[in-house]
Amino acid sequence: MATLAFNHEEIAARELKPALYELDGISRESVEAHYKLYQGYVAKRNEILAKLAEVDLSAANQVYSEIRALKVDLTFAIGGVKNHEIYFEHLGGGGGDPDGLMGDLIARDFGSAADWRADLKATGMAGRGWAWTAYDWDEQRLFNYVGDAQNTFPIWNATPLVALDVYEHAYFLDYQTDRASYIDAFFDNLDWAVVNEWVARYQIQP
Ligand SMILES: [Fe+2]
Repeated sequence: MATLAFNHEEIAARELKPALYELDGISRESVEAHYKLYQGYVAKRNEILAKLAEVDLSAANQVYSEIRALKVDLTFAIGGVKNHEIYFEHLGGGGGDPDGLMGDLIARDFGSAADWRADLKATGMAGRGWAWTAYDWDEQRLFNYVGDAQNTFPIWNATPLVALDVYEHAYFLDYQTDRASYIDAFFDNLDWAVVNEWVARYQIQP
């Protein structure tokens, strides 16, 4: 089949920063187990794209077909890759209130860091998988979005800047079912310098 539709390069799992093994309130054991799940998403993303290169386009069917199954689950795999890359990359810091450009954006769009934190925590308590602070390029503002899985419910043209994993695998080892305490620990380990680097790179204007 001569098509460029499924051309892709294999990706490799990014390494964890050493600081991820010394988080405050999120254990090394928990991070190591979590990292294995992330490696699994990377492997499945590569596997699915390789299979798509061989898929029978003429058999496409909305009830069941190979292309349908592969394309649906590709979104789960890629979501798992991207969500966790944000999550791991912006942990390892000292938490506290956001400073710099992100501090300005949060003050403008939520009123205060405390209001942003309260809304993201509640969004995380309400989600079954994720809560994200993302910048919507059409509305030109930050908003806290809820997600039930790796591939629900992002919206088009919004860029995630904070990714709070609330799947049980993120906290069960350390907190059993006490998700609220885990979310507090997540906030305590955020690295605002990393988030501000993304805000600058994306040229988001306060
Ligand atoms: Fe996770």
